[in-house]
Amino acid sequence: MTAIRVENVYKVFGRRPQEAVRRLRDGAARDDVKQHGTAAVIDASFEVAKGEIFVVMGLSGSGKSTLIRMLNGLWRPTAGRIMLGDDDLATVSAGRLRTLRRSTVSMVFQHFALLPHRTVLDNAAYPLEIQGMKKPARRERALQALELVGLSGWEDSLPSQLSGGMRQRVGLARALAADTDILLMDEAFSALDPLIRREMQEQLVEIQQKLGKTIIFITHDLNEAMYLGDRIAVMRAGRIVQIGSAEEILSEPADEYVAQFVADVDRTRVLTAGSVMVRPGVVLATNAGPRQAARAMREAHASAAFVVDRDRVLRGAVRDSDVVAAARAGATRLDPALLDAALTVDESTPLSDVFAPSAESSLPVAVTDDRGRLLGVVPRVALLEAMVPPETDVDGVLADQPTVASAPEGYEPLPPDDGVPGLAPDVLPDAPSAEAGAGPALHDHATTEGGYR
Ligand SMILES: Nc1ncnc2c1ncn2[C@@H]1O[C@H](COP(=O)(O)OP(=O)(O)OP(=O)(O)O)[C@@H](O)[C@H]1O
Ligand SMILES: [Mg+2]
Repeated sequence: MTAIRVENVYKVFGRRPQEAVRRLRDGAARDDVKQHGTAAVIDASFEVAKGEIFVVMGLSGSGKSTLIRMLNGLWRPTAGRIMLGDDDLATVSAGRLRTLRRSTVSMVFQHFALLPHRTVLDNAAYPLEIQGMKKPARRERALQALELVGLSGWEDSLPSQLSGGMRQRVGLARALAADTDILLMDEAFSALDPLIRREMQEQLVEIQQKLGKTIIFITHDLNEAMYLGDRIAVMRAGRIVQIGSAEEILSEPADEYVAQFVADVDRTRVLTAGSVMVRPGVVLATNAGPRQAARAMREAHASAAFVVDRDRVLRGAVRDSDVVAAARAGATRLDPALLDAALTVDESTPLSDVFAPSAESSLPVAVTDDRGRLLGVVPRVALLEAMVPPETDVDGVLADQPTVASAPEGYEPLPPDDGVPGLAPDVLPDAPSAEAGAGPALHDHATTEGGYR
């Protein structure tokens, strides 16, 4: 089921947005329409399925925040449709939009400003309070949300007593307490240090699995995108240049830009055993005799073989020396005592988790399905190969180009977030000017100095 459908959406800031859209539709690039406005998002189309984690990534200025702000109605698209169920956010009334923001979408930002004089619990319950929910009910919801994010026991603390990571958790708890089906997260973990960040990523996946939320997650960080995303949309200069699973994007980048982007990903976290496994060299039936086994191994130049039963369920592995010894001793069946336990992982095991078992065993690691049937093996050489990215002939085109982004002409201030009156300082995203100035070295802004070669 579709949670959000985005159809040919444009957002142009500036003087003549419609004129810019007309030209963009004819194929103009962002830079070509500069005199008419800043084309922040150009012809974006995608659907997000219910329960999916959809990641949007791209360099600074590529249009990610603008896109996500349109998804919660903070910006209206200049053209196109954004369907949230039966509502088109491009044309929905202000009243209906407020209702949607209360009941359907909530947002978590990079710096979640908490109300300093309120407890963690009251902070998490704040939107519910604004909505007029009675104290016991909102308390209960906020307590549940805090538990989900691992903050049980901290309910009565004040924000100043929390670490940055914990404060960000309160922000997440606040969004969860609102109990909307859709969570929008704009660089929600980007300000955290790496270990905490990793923890939050894992927790988010857990929460998603438990609650089945639809999550749209924006990040600069490729590893984060690859780890979290069921699918990833890569944006460049306002356009979505590729949408696909992490593996699709890694193995078939749509263009040089994407290839460059994925060149330094920690591939072992993304690639799974299933994606690099190969056909096992020799597979024997449990009723095979030692002579037959020895011959099969000799022909395949294999020093070991996997043994499966009639249902292809893996029973173990035998080594050539044991088989030959058994044949010499006149055995006619493979003695079950010869079987070594094979190391098994499942298809979805990340390669990073295959390294340790692989190092401990001289046999390839076996990949089995949920019924224990042998699907393939991961030879050590495949593991090593998987760590090397496919060849790209771009040498650092996007790297090492520190640029200073300037707020382009025609910068529009953000509209107030009227979804939760009185909540503005908390839930409003960072001011655009702050973002433009404090971004990382890589920029995708519509200024020539920020563009690509
Ligand atoms: N309110 C605004 N008024 C005018 N131009 C804007 C406004 N907000 C964003 N832009 C411009 O639109 C383009 C896309 O900006 P956006 O903030 O969506 O990028 P981003 O991908 O979120 O970047 P970052 O990673 O730095 O957050 C940029 O060129 C930006 O300068
Ligand atoms: Mg942004």
